[in-house]
Amino acid sequence: MRNLIIAPSVLACDFLNIGSEVQMLNESAAEWIHIDVMDGVFVPNISFGFPVLEAINKVATKVLDVHLMIEKPEQYITTFAKAGAKVITVHYEACPHVHRTIQQIKDAGCLAGVAINPGTPVEVYQDIIADLDLALIMSVNPGFGGQKFIPNAINKTKRLAEMAAKAGNTTLKIEIDGGVTMANAADLYQAGADVLVAGSFVFSSKDPKATIAELVSVAK
Ligand code: DX5
Ligand code: ZN
Repeated sequence: MRNLIIAPSVLACDFLNIGSEVQMLNESAAEWIHIDVMDGVFVPNISFGFPVLEAINKVATKVLDVHLMIEKPEQYITTFAKAGAKVITVHYEACPHVHRTIQQIKDAGCLAGVAINPGTPVEVYQDIIADLDLALIMSVNPGFGGQKFIPNAINKTKRLAEMAAKAGNTTLKIEIDGGVTMANAADLYQAGADVLVAGSFVFSSKDPKATIAELVSVAK
């Protein structure tokens, strides 16, 4: 059985009570906490930045998985690493020198991830796949929580898993982000996903801890 990591996105949590929300995640079966940083330029929305990550880092016992939906992410990598990021993912579409950016993330002591939008083919990973710790396939257009899952992400996951195997990257983590629910989690896991981000599905449920446990249980 392959491990399946659930990474709840705090974008969907109650910001007035972020401390107790993170405490709840500490007690849950989630291994990672997903932090969505948006700049209002790369995506049409603004979320939060360093002070919020630093505050979460003070209480979180889980791996902080930072998803940068920003232009020029290379300018901020060391600051995000100092603020508590353990995984840093930049967007392929925002990085003209993506190979260099991956090395910068590793030099900062973090796992290096590259994300692709729904309209970007997985084939763009071909020449960086050996260097990557993580590849994030967006299953919604980035910018907002609570959107509908784009089913083509399952096909992309399968193609990427094959590419990783061919390239000999046996430790690559494939992460899926956007619209994840119990209706698609098992299909994504079977297609090769290692990490599932879930925002609104977890935080809008009656019992978020039970929902996280249910998502983890699709790994068989
Ligand atoms: C979208 C973000 C996602 C989002 C997921 O731009 O990258 O991480 O928070 O939220 P749900 O699970 O509600 O689609
Ligand atoms: Zn995200």
